[in-house]
Amino acid sequence: MAQIIDGKAVSAAVKAEVAEEAAKLKEEKGLKIGLAVVIVGNNPASRVYVNNKKKACEAVGFQSFEYALEESTTQEQLLDLVNVLNRDARVNGILVQLPLPKHIDEKAIINAISPDKDVDAFHPINVGKIMIGDYSFLPCTPAGVMRLIESTGTDITGKQCVVIGRSNIVGKPQAMLLLQKNGTVTICHSKTKNLKEVCLGADILVVAIGRANFVTGDMIKEGAVVIDVGMNRLENGKLCGDVEFESAEKKASFITPVPGGVGPMTIAMLMKNTLTAAKQQAGIE
Ligand code: GUN
Repeated sequence: MAQIIDGKAVSAAVKAEVAEEAAKLKEEKGLKIGLAVVIVGNNPASRVYVNNKKKACEAVGFQSFEYALEESTTQEQLLDLVNVLNRDARVNGILVQLPLPKHIDEKAIINAISPDKDVDAFHPINVGKIMIGDYSFLPCTPAGVMRLIESTGTDITGKQCVVIGRSNIVGKPQAMLLLQKNGTVTICHSKTKNLKEVCLGADILVVAIGRANFVTGDMIKEGAVVIDVGMNRLENGKLCGDVEFESAEKKASFITPVPGGVGPMTIAMLMKNTLTAAKQQAGIE
């Protein structure tokens, strides 16, 4: 039976580290750290995420600046706001909550965010840096996954790592981070033919495909570390991951629950990136 990885506890530890360093920087260097969060429209899930980001800022001692814009906001208006925030010295990090309304080109907005304030690590410059292993900002969810794997004491070097999912936000950067830690990495996706066989070879399995209960216990190698990035809302309103927990926990050595696994890590890593941004902008690191 697997040990359950407590994402809430690991996330609390990361936030405590950030809060401690932020307090020290404030005391010793008078540094005040600020994160701007922009939300456009009324997507209820986005609203919850943005509220959680605000709460996390308060918890670690950052200022948060929220910009809640109407659904009808034009791309030009949003670009204008991003440009104002790029120049605002109180703002160390900028996060534009995705998805944006359909009439706004997400790529154009991401490209307009100053790479130095791009705490999501979505800007092509930061994405490129991840490819070459020279990064200041790690994309929040994959960085959170790495921290969870680390919390199990697993050494990634030489391990077979399988990532299911190839999104720009999770799958692709996740594969790069595992590679950076000397994992032997395979990326699978919805069109992979021999998925079960590939999964059965995985010492570390990260699942981010966005389909409820997609990975079942018979696809998991005995003793594997299983990280479930999925967050699916079932018809009965319950949240569930991409991994069928009951059958998977019988095979894995460590497994993340949903909720309470990867979810809380993303925000903790966002706080860490905002701290990094503030230090870099102040010439501290
Ligand atoms: N929407 C869902 N996840 C994210 C994220 O990590 N960053 C942003 N900006 N939007 C999101």
